[in-house]
Amino acid sequence: MDVGVLGLGHYVPEKVVTNHDLEKIVDTNDQWIRSRTGIEERRIAEDDMDTSDMALLAAKNAIKDAELKPEDIDLILVATVTPDTPFPSVACIIQDRLGATNAAGMDIGAACAGFMYGMVTAKQFIETKAYKHVLVVGVEKLSKITNWSDRGTCVLFGDGAGAAVLGQVSEGKGILSFELGANGAGGKELYQDKETGHIFMNGREVFKFAVRQMPESSVNVIKDAGYKEEDVDYLIPHQANIRIMEAARQRLGISDDKMAKTIKKYGNNSAASIPIALSESVRDGKIKDNDLIVLVGFGGGLTWGALAIRWGR
Ligand code: ACO
Repeated sequence: MDVGVLGLGHYVPEKVVTNHDLEKIVDTNDQWIRSRTGIEERRIAEDDMDTSDMALLAAKNAIKDAELKPEDIDLILVATVTPDTPFPSVACIIQDRLGATNAAGMDIGAACAGFMYGMVTAKQFIETKAYKHVLVVGVEKLSKITNWSDRGTCVLFGDGAGAAVLGQVSEGKGILSFELGANGAGGKELYQDKETGHIFMNGREVFKFAVRQMPESSVNVIKDAGYKEEDVDYLIPHQANIRIMEAARQRLGISDDKMAKTIKKYGNNSAASIPIALSESVRDGKIKDNDLIVLVGFGGGLTWGALAIRWGR
């Protein structure tokens, strides 16, 4: 059975925080942030908007786009490292608020690669015919675990949510291949500090890991799907740093117009980055029916994941 995306949706908070706004709270400047990361502004959720509120809005859009009803969803998987609370899961909170009364639900913790883990997990349940429709959400309210006095990390992150409904698609379409991976020994380079609750990151080490891993995983899924790098129509890398994304794009020999770049306006949204970029790219007509697309992400854990998809239903 071929499993693919039936519908997409995303949500980003309205409040825009620019690099100039950050100049007022930490010792940084617009020029440094732009040149080192590619970020110009990010969206930050208001205090009364939690992770599940954003997840709900993205999920509603995705279910509508799939032309389904909440009751048609069999399983909800929410990739996040910033749940409202450890339990109930964000998946259970939105199951109730969506009225997805037939769905099971759980959260997935694989940091920025979480949406990749969610997509692959959904595929297994659908392929085995255990479930027909799986809702996968990538969502983060990173602003609540950001140390707003650490210029090394606070300039990088933003809040938002992206969602996809997966199900059976026509023959030859959908997820062609995937790769998931983890290296727990690298966990010390990027984690949530137990004492402060803030994000800790060894930026240089994470950078080196990402520059190596993103192209490697992309090449692996392209090969496994039976294609070559030049066959790729569109690349959606995790939006962590434009320099990491550019390194991956150049290694794959993909032209600039064939790579999603939401980082400039949203920053790094962790598990939400890839589904937001995917949802916007499809909405804006950058991904068309039958295109060969590659999604690739990496994050704390350390974790990584990639998928090659023949786009369309
Ligand atoms: N403004 C101004 N100067 C800064 C800032 C800032 N916001 N942050 C750091 N600097 C300074 C440093 O203090 C350092 O100064 P020094 O040379 O006097 O010591 C200098 O800039 C260079 O710092 P580096 O850390 O070497 O800068 P680098 O070019 O490596 O960029 C960055 C840092 C952007 C964090 C980069 O390493 C990076 O993107 N790493 C990967 C991050 C990532 O991908 N994370 C993804 C996972 S996030 C998640 O999972 C939630």
